[in-house]
Amino acid sequence: DGSKEQDWIVTRKEMIRGGIAKEMIVVNGLFPGPTVHAKVGEKVMINVRNELPGNEGVSIHWHGINQRGSNTMDGAVGITQCAIPPGHNFTYVFTPDKAGTYWWHAHSGGQRVEGLLGGFIVYDSSQEKYTMGNGAYDDELLVIITDQYHDKFSEALARYTSKRSKGFEPVPDGGLINGHGKFNCSKLLTAKHRCIADADDLTEFILQPNKKYRIRIINASAFSDFKFSIDNHELEVIEADGAEVESKKTHYIPISSGQRYSAIIHTKQWDIGQFYIRAEMDDMNFNYLNLQLEPEVKAIITYDRNSIVYRITEFVKRETKRYKPNPSSKPWSELLQPEELVTIQESSLRPLEREEIPDADIQIVIYTKVMKLEKRNRAPFAFINRTSHIPAIGAPNLHVATNKINVSDIIPVPTITGGKNTEKWGGDQLLLDIPYGSVVDVIINNIDESSHPFHLHGYHFWVLHTFSPEKVNGQWYPDQKANYNVVNPIKRDTVNVPSFGHSVIRWKANNPGIWAFHCHMEWHMSTGMLMQFATAMENFTEEIPSAMIDHCIAERDLGPKLIK
Ligand code: C2O
Ligand code: CU
Repeated sequence: DGSKEQDWIVTRKEMIRGGIAKEMIVVNGLFPGPTVHAKVGEKVMINVRNELPGNEGVSIHWHGINQRGSNTMDGAVGITQCAIPPGHNFTYVFTPDKAGTYWWHAHSGGQRVEGLLGGFIVYDSSQEKYTMGNGAYDDELLVIITDQYHDKFSEALARYTSKRSKGFEPVPDGGLINGHGKFNCSKLLTAKHRCIADADDLTEFILQPNKKYRIRIINASAFSDFKFSIDNHELEVIEADGAEVESKKTHYIPISSGQRYSAIIHTKQWDIGQFYIRAEMDDMNFNYLNLQLEPEVKAIITYDRNSIVYRITEFVKRETKRYKPNPSSKPWSELLQPEELVTIQESSLRPLEREEIPDADIQIVIYTKVMKLEKRNRAPFAFINRTSHIPAIGAPNLHVATNKINVSDIIPVPTITGGKNTEKWGGDQLLLDIPYGSVVDVIINNIDESSHPFHLHGYHFWVLHTFSPEKVNGQWYPDQKANYNVVNPIKRDTVNVPSFGHSVIRWKANNPGIWAFHCHMEWHMSTGMLMQFATAMENFTEEIPSAMIDHCIAERDLGPKLIK
């Protein structure tokens, strides 16, 4: 359908979203950007042209796409490529290997927070579009949830990392579904932002009665976890991060930044009006109260083209041009007793098909924490073990590893901690070598108040164990190996590591390349909660595209200016 070969132009554009006027970063004028539809085994070619003003580079990461044999296309700035400079373009070429719900977003600065993101759906080549292991459905919808900050990302980040910072991550002001929402302008505390209450409306989905829909949910937020539900419609979860799961009925799906789920909903037999889709922010990680915050993000389901409701609303729309959908549905929590409410847990999901889980050869233990550092003006930095990631300018690690840049050409970047291998890689980096074929356990000990959704590029991993403690000390200790689920663990690409708890993930290192592993909350990633695995590099055979090398030379020329 042509969507596998696309030309994308990245620009800035003022938009009114949720009633607030804001400059967004858009693809072909759109936020969210275009949804990519592809089949397993089909080549995707996306030519990204950077038309941002000033010196701002850009890159696109294809979140959850394994990039088997195409590490160079992974889009991670400082790791696999330099940013595409303004006025330049780069064509990402890769072949998805697994059906499911994925997404794409900028992987440079905080550009995804400014809107540079979209959906990416992969269909099985052997199946019809509307089937999955769990059965057929009639149609599907895509729900992309974002949290929104009225301020610019750069301003919010500067405040968060300033001398006077209390170390509290910026709390969003609200959220959007598929780029639309409502903000109560009377909540605004300052006149800094322009708010036009009627300038935006909730996203509305028109559904037919008596049908089965697959609803694909992406948490594309900068920071927030959400609790997702649809009034009066039970959700039957069938997919998590591209993995088919044994179906489970639920009222609420908790979803962390970077994660995706699919659920089947059955529309009712009769037309009974309009219902809210709700994504409620989980405020567990919010360390301060944002008085402007609208924590419930909504969209609307309207039944159906033949229904009385639909015909009346269409009529009103035509006659008055002032149609506003107006559901009166209630959240599940107001309809059911607390003990009747079902909320799925990440750790209770099971794969539809079991796999043989190999034993681990390598065990890596990491600790994650956000801390304020005396020698850095008391600004908060995010750590993995004793490193806080800062990439080298103009010297992505993949280019260093493949001798496309000399170590002596790396522009030094002041580091905080002297990360492992720093002399070789530049910046402040924790980068571990994993030989081809090794089975790796990574034990993520979260010694923070905040939970951290960890995402691995290039692989899907089994989640063997997640521990969410009652009390503060939930660190891993060797006896817990006995509790690992090596029978039917779920395989995904983003795991939420609970506050003061831990998760154990396992994967087999058979995809040559350097892959990022990081917290998906932009505030934590931007302040250093990122490490890398150089896996199976002895089998690496890719050529670095020459355009990428040119982009890095351009970045090194700018380098001294950038770090001044
Ligand atoms: Cu969705 Cu490295 O990120
Ligand atoms: Cu985090």
